[in-house]
Amino acid sequence: MAVGILLVGGLGTRLSPLTNKTPKPMLPIANLPVTEHQLLVAKAAGITKVVLATAYLAETFVPYFGDGSKWGIELKYALETEPLGTGGAIRNAAELILAEISDHEPIVVFNGDVLSRHNLTAQIELHQSAAASVTLHLVTVEDARPYGCVPFDENGQVTDFLEKMDNPITNTINAGCYVFNPQVIKDIELGKVVSVEREIFPELLKAGNVIQSFVDNSYWLDMGTPKSLLKGSQDYVGNHEYIVGENSKISESAKISGASAIGNNVTIGANVEVISSIIRDGVTISDGSKLENVFVESNTTVSKATSAKGAYLADGEIIDLKL
Ligand code: GDD
Ligand code: MG
Repeated sequence: MAVGILLVGGLGTRLSPLTNKTPKPMLPIANLPVTEHQLLVAKAAGITKVVLATAYLAETFVPYFGDGSKWGIELKYALETEPLGTGGAIRNAAELILAEISDHEPIVVFNGDVLSRHNLTAQIELHQSAAASVTLHLVTVEDARPYGCVPFDENGQVTDFLEKMDNPITNTINAGCYVFNPQVIKDIELGKVVSVEREIFPELLKAGNVIQSFVDNSYWLDMGTPKSLLKGSQDYVGNHEYIVGENSKISESAKISGASAIGNNVTIGANVEVISSIIRDGVTISDGSKLENVFVESNTTVSKATSAKGAYLADGEIIDLKL
C-alpha cells in the first residue's frame, strides 16, 4: 500500500486574478476542485491516507474536504506558515505520516495542479520492481521549456533533471507525480526551504541514487494558466454541451454550449449565450448577455447584455485573460 501527499500550497501567480480568493487546487474543473479529481485518482490506485501540503489560502481546504471520509480517504493537513518550496513542503507533510508507515511503503507525491489519467498503479509497481529511490511520471510535450526536462538512459534511469531550461535537450518532461522511497524524504531537512526539482533530484543523481522514469502519455494537463484551466474543464465536461450543478435555473431561451461548466445556485436569464466557460456557484447572468471562454467568479451578478470573451468576471469587473 502507498500513501499520498498533494502539494497544494503554491501561489498560483499565473492564474491571478482567479487565485485571489481561491487557491489554484480549489479551482473547479467540470464543477469539482482539482484536488478532488486528484483524490479520486489516488483512491483508484488504492491510496487511502493522504496529506494536503497547504500554505497559500490554507484555510479554504478544510471546509470542503473535512477528514476525507466522504472519499474513503483518511485526510490530514500540513501547514507551512511560509511556503517551504516543493521539497520543504513534502518533508513537512511527511511528518504527519512517517510514524504510521513501514520503511518500504512508497509515498506518492502529486503536484496539486495536474490532471492526469496515467496508470498510477503501474508507476508504483515499477518503482518497487526497479528498487528506485524515486520514480517519476514523465510525459512527452511539444515544448519542454516551461517544465522540468528529464532525459533517461536505455534502462529508463533518469540521467539528469533540468528545470525550465531555454534549450531543452529532450521533450520528455516531469509530469509532477513522484513515487518516493520514504528514506529519501526523511533525509530532507525539516523546516528548510528547498525545491525537489532544482535541488533534491539533481543532488540524488549526483550521489548515484536510482531515479526511475515512468513514461505514460495518457491524458495530462498542468492547469496552471487561465487557458489551460478552461481547457481542462472542457475536457472533463467531455461530449456534453454543458454540465450544471444543483438548484440552478436556466431560461428556456438561453443557449449554453462548448462544454461549459455551470455551478450550483446559478440563474441564467433570457437570451443569454454561454460558450466554453466556467460559471461558479451563486452567479446570476442577466438577460441578453453573451459570454465566451470566460470564468465568472462565485456570487457575481453579470449585468444585462454584457458581452465578454476570454475574460474573468467578478462584481463590477471584467478583466482580459489574454488567452
Ligand atoms: N505546499 C507547497 N509549498 N506547495 C507548493 C510550493 C510550496 O512552497 N511551491 C509550489 N507548490 C505546489 C504548487 O501549488 C503546485 O501544485 C506544485 O507545487 C508545482 O508548482 P507549480 O508552480 O505549478 O510548478 P510548475 O508548473 O511551474 O512546474 C512544476 O510542474 C511541472 C509539471 O506541471 C515542476 O514540477 C516541473 O518540473 C514540472 O514539469
Ligand atoms: Mg504547475
